[in-house]
Amino acid sequence: MNVRRVEIKSLATYVPPRLLTNADLEKMIDTTDEWIMQRTGIRQRHIVDPGVATSDLAAEAAKEAIKRAGLKPEDIDLIIVGTVTPDMLFPSTACLVQHKIGATKAWGFDLSAACSAFTYSLTVGSQLVAAGGVKNALVIGADVMSSIIDYTDRATCVLFGDGAGAVVLAPSSDPNLGILDFEHMIDGSGGGALCMPAGGSRMPASHETVDQRLHYVKQDGQTVFKFAVRNTGEICERLLKRNNLTGHELDLFVSHQANKRIIMSAAERIGMPEEKVVINIDRFGNTTAATIPLALNDAVESGRLKKGHLIMLTSVGAGFTVGSVLVRWGL
Ligand code: UT7
Repeated sequence: MNVRRVEIKSLATYVPPRLLTNADLEKMIDTTDEWIMQRTGIRQRHIVDPGVATSDLAAEAAKEAIKRAGLKPEDIDLIIVGTVTPDMLFPSTACLVQHKIGATKAWGFDLSAACSAFTYSLTVGSQLVAAGGVKNALVIGADVMSSIIDYTDRATCVLFGDGAGAVVLAPSSDPNLGILDFEHMIDGSGGGALCMPAGGSRMPASHETVDQRLHYVKQDGQTVFKFAVRNTGEICERLLKRNNLTGHELDLFVSHQANKRIIMSAAERIGMPEEKVVINIDRFGNTTAATIPLALNDAVESGRLKKGHLIMLTSVGAGFTVGSVLVRWGL
């Protein structure tokens, strides 16, 4: 597929140190640790201190990823920041990160695809490297979800956390390793099921929108759940089929972490046993664009992900956005 094969040259993540546990939430809203664990698999999430923004988390992950790739900030040609919580509507968080890390020769932009922002950014970045216009691309997934969560709404506030992950993409040194293929789709008919209604051009910020708490995440959980269960499995099947593969040939399934039940049903559909599925939602919650790099990082650190492994990354997010990327891991 690619003009030239593109590899993930390094990976790094960052989460803010402060924890928000289920026990903390029990004191804030009408919920229980048991309900949250059973329905979602989440035990705790990391939350920023006031004043810390997405670009701060993104820059931490980015600096470390560049170092691990054996590069300097000025070697980076392109920065893509996948996020749904930019520091500001503009300038882009990519511009803020570029300045913070001193990537003086890079251009870049933000990519809005909610929970699919990392899979989409990986695809866009790798296609630009594959085409030859860019050598080293920094792809970041970062979100400060706590900045748009209503901590009086028990249906959403138990779900999300803050975090960032970054990878450096470059032409593969070994043509067998790297990003092999992708499959993406969007379904805008689901836009109302998961959104932040106010603060954009449709409903600019006003006293009224603030009073009505419209600058927070609103979700119809069951609609999103059903869509995610069906479409995560389906898109993985399509990508496997096109590559003449079955789930049994995959070494690891690395899904967006929104709900343990969604991940396990998709894994089951493509025939992946539990021991090949990465689950770390218990420690981080749903960090939106950062879940997949955080899951990859855990898999590497625990020794479950090794050079040469064939892995499937997959996501479903607001929009709806759906993504799947097939990778032969090279680190
Ligand atoms: O990454 C972006 C994509 N987002 C997702 O993938 C999220 C998809 N949705 C989900 O993961 C699930 O729908 C949730 C975890 C959000 C909710 O789980 P559910 O099993 O679909 O529960 P529900 O919304 O049907 O609610 C069941 C009950 C309700 O009470 P009643 O009406 O049965 O009396 C809720 O009011 O659970 C209640 N409930 C809670 N109870 C305790 C909702 N939130 C809570 C809570 N604690 N935090």
